[in-house]
Parts: sequence; C-alpha cells; structure tokens
Amino acid sequence: MMCYYRLFVLLALSSFVVESRHLKGNSYELSSFHRSRINATIEPKIWAVLVAGSNGFVNYRHQADICHAYQILKNGGLEDENIIVFMYDDIAFDVENSRPGVIINKPDGDNVYKGVPKDYTGEDVNVDNLLAAILGNKTGVRGGSGKVVESGPNDHIFIYYADHGGAGILGMPSGVDLTAKDLMNTLKKKHAAKSYKSMVIYVEACESGSIFEGLLPKNMNIYAITAANANESSWGTYCPGEFPSPPSDLDTCLGDLFSISWMEDSDIHDLRKETLDQQYQLVRRRTAVDDMVGASHVMQYGNKTIAKQFVFNYMGANPKNDYYSPSSDDDSSLTTTPSIVSQHDATPLHFWHKFRNAPEGSPKKTEAHKQLMDELSLRKHIDESVNQIISVVFGQEKVPEMLNTVQSAGNPLVHDWDCFKMLVNSFKKQCGSTSRYEMKYSRAFANMCNAGVHINHATQAITQACSTNSPPP
Ligand SMILES: *[C@@H]1O[C@H](CO)[C@@H](O)[C@H](O)[C@H]1NC(C)=O
Ligand SMILES: *[C@@H]1O[C@H](CO)[C@@H](O)[C@H](O)[C@H]1NC(C)=O
Ligand SMILES: *[C@@H]1O[C@H](CO)[C@@H](O)[C@H](O)[C@H]1NC(C)=O
Ligand SMILES: *[C@@H]1O[C@H](CO)[C@@H](O)[C@H](O)[C@H]1NC(C)=O
Repeated sequence: MMCYYRLFVLLALSSFVVESRHLKGNSYELSSFHRSRINATIEPKIWAVLVAGSNGFVNYRHQADICHAYQILKNGGLEDENIIVFMYDDIAFDVENSRPGVIINKPDGDNVYKGVPKDYTGEDVNVDNLLAAILGNKTGVRGGSGKVVESGPNDHIFIYYADHGGAGILGMPSGVDLTAKDLMNTLKKKHAAKSYKSMVIYVEACESGSIFEGLLPKNMNIYAITAANANESSWGTYCPGEFPSPPSDLDTCLGDLFSISWMEDSDIHDLRKETLDQQYQLVRRRTAVDDMVGASHVMQYGNKTIAKQFVFNYMGANPKNDYYSPSSDDDSSLTTTPSIVSQHDATPLHFWHKFRNAPEGSPKKTEAHKQLMDELSLRKHIDESVNQIISVVFGQEKVPEMLNTVQSAGNPLVHDWDCFKMLVNSFKKQCGSTSRYEMKYSRAFANMCNAGVHINHATQAITQACSTNSPPP
C-alpha cells in the first residue's frame, strides 16, 4: 500500500514575501481590489457548479470536499440560486456515519453539510444533467431541482469537481463517466453562446491533467487547475491511521490533498487580495512539496492571464477574513502537508480500519473482512481482465506498451474519442466497481484506440474478459 508519511513545515513568512511581489504593479488587480463586495443586483454575477463524482461511505471525502466548497461560496456572499450542487447525498445519513447529518472535511472541522442545496442527488448525478446544467439548458436536465447556470456575457463561472478519475475521464456515480472530449465540447458551446465572461475550473482526480492537456485552448477565457498532471495519482488525506487522522469514530479519509489545500486557504485568506495565481502557488507547494515522493503536480491550463485576477471574482469573499494577516498562526497550517494516500488505496484502507476497529466476533467485523477480501479479488479480476483484453486484441507481447505509453506533454490522450468513449463505457459497465479501481486502466483503452483497434473486436474482448475472469463473489 502506498502511503507516504509527509510533514513539511515551511515558513509562512517566506511564502508571503513571494506573493506580495506578485501583487505589485498589476493594474487589473488593483482595480478589482477596490471593487465592492459581491452585490447580486450588479454585474458580474458569479455562478458555481460543484460536483462530487462518487458515492459510498468509502468515498466520503469527495462529497465532504464539495460540501466544504459550498460553505466557502456561501460565506463568500453567493446566493443558493447561483450555486448548483451535484452530490449523491448518501454519506450524511449512511449507517456507517457515526455522526448522522454531519459531514466534516478535516479532523477538527465544522459540519460542512449544513444548508447544502440538494440540486442533483442520487441517480440525477449524471453526465447529461451536468453538461445541461453548465450549458444553462433547462429542458436538458432530468430530475433534480432543475437549477442550471443561467449566466450572461458579463458573468463569472466557477466549476469544482472532486472524485476518482482516469486518463481522459472523470467519474460519475450513475451512468457513464464524463470524457474530456464531451466536457470540452460543452465548454466550447458555452463559449460560442457568449454566456460568460470568464470561467475558472478546479479539478481533483487522478490523472486530471489529461482532461485539459492538449485540449483546452487559450482563447476561451477559461483557466483551469488540476490536482495532478496527465499521468499520476491525486491523493486522499486525513485518512485513518495517518497523520493527522480523522476522529476515531470515522474510519474513512475526510478530504483530498489538492482540495483541502485550496479550501483551507480560501477559508482564512482575504480573497479580495489573493490572486488565483497566488492560490495556485500555495496549493502547488502544499500538494507537491518539491522533493516529495508520490505527491502530484498541480497543473495550470487555458488562459493563464486570468490567474492574475483576485480569487474573490470566482468565490466571493467572507467579510470575516477582511483583516486576515499572513502572520497569523492559522497560516502555518496551510504550508503543512498532511500525510496522504493514493485515491485507489483509500478504499482498502477504509475496509482495513473498519475491520481493525470492529469488536472481535461482531457482524461488523465479518462484514468489513468480506468487503476487504471482495475489494482485493475485484482488483485482481480487473487487472487480469485488462491483461486478457489486450492479449486477445493485440497479443500478449503488446500488454506493457498498451498499459504504459503516455502521450507527450501538450498532446491529447487520444485521437479517436468515440472509440475511447465506447471502450471505457463498456469496461465500466462490465467490470466497474464502487471503488472505481477500473478507471486506472482508461489509458490502456486510449492506447488501444490510438493503435487503431477494431471497436467491435475490443468490446467483445471486454465482455468476454469481464464475465470470465474469476469474478468476485
Ligand atoms: C447593490 O447595488 C445597488 C445598485 O448599485 C445598490 O442600490 C444596493 O444598495 C447595493 N446593495 C448592497 C448590499 O451593497
Ligand atoms: C437542451 O437539451 C435538449 C434535450 O437534451 C436538447 O434537445 C436541446 O437541443 C438542448 N438545447 C441546447 C440549446 O443545447
Ligand atoms: C486571456 O484573458 C485575458 C484577461 O481576461 C484577455 O485579456 C486575453 O485576451 C485572453 N487571451 C486570449 C488568447 O484569449
Ligand atoms: C507524465 O508524468 C511525467 C512525470 O511527472 C511528466 O514529466 C510528464 O510531463 C507527464 N506527461 C503528461 C502528458 O502530462
């Protein structure tokens, strides 16, 4: 199991010397600094879309991240009518939650579930609803509150997504996963409709760089940052048995490293004075302290000039932080990197701790043991299935190449997105799991498409492999 114990205390003061240097001599920043706080009756409006792409108590952290983001925006002055929340909503009242109705995003954190609007929950958290909501297409959404981004040409949009990902895909709890290409097409339509001035997108997921790498043009007034580059894990944190660990009654990871880094920053800083780039620098350092093994590289994509704007333009600003001073004690916590667990390993870790903490001989112990064993055999099944699929289609000797080839920086993952979409959808449908372990193989399907695989041949191989390889009990 990959768990990297990391505790890095950097001098808060030194980071702020760097930031104040960035601040000088930028007239745009100064003019927006003097702008008033958000006022719903004057333009531009801020719209936000928050998406947790997973479900299950084992994935607690993604919905916790999204709820926390909601609190930041709400405290920042945004109205519920402008914040659209996609979350499965099965965590707060899960039988495993020892604190019914409460979700926390850090060990000593407040309840972030309070007041979160339930716009799209359960099966309504799906690709079609998300893309229709971003487009502002009211007739395109099914179920849910019907809330969509009804933005105008002067408005700002903030999109934040947290979940498991794989090369070229972001997870969704119901139906198919979101492909980078479909997201990009939606953003292009939104841009062509002139229905925003500028947009900021934050993405937490494994291999999240692949969503924008070689795909997001600079001329769409969109600036995106991702937790990881196109070919590395992103990381869960506040995990059981790690440091700092969740309270003993919660045996699941409470947050994700990239996500808690920007949110704990936004919680205390005066966002009218912090630029998106300053926030990026802080998050980048906290997420991948430069000489750390196993951390991830926070990436920037799209129009980076937008990063000179103040964070306030996309998240609002909490009046409580008006007199925030960088020398405060709180700030040292923002440069301390908690220990981390890869997105894929957070699942067995949860079952292991549930098993360890359950009383000897209890039904809970038996259940946790079964869950852990099922997860391990499921992984083996998925590993073997991918191996078999590649072998059937290209021959055994091609397996390493299909698994490991990474496109060079600046290039998109795949050329034929229809082929890719067909194969990953088929694989999710037939080999998929709540732990989303299968997502780590989406690159293999991209490589198969790039090598000119015959789609029918490949989908047949997927069906065959997923149904025959010692499926879990
Ligand atoms: C918002 O702006 C309008 C128009 O300028 C003004 O009348 C109103 O007082 C402002 N509201 C707040 C809360 O500042
Ligand atoms: C809105 O969604 C509906 C249903 O999917 C679709 O038929 C329609 O073309 C969409 N409208 C726009 C403007 O994209
Ligand atoms: C990037 O954004 C800035 C600020 O919004 C804008 O002035 C500039 O034209 C944009 N660049 C491109 C290539 O669209
Ligand atoms: C893949 O990861 C390596 C090491 O982090 C990095 O140098 C490279 O740029 C990445 N490739 C892409 C396409 O992001």
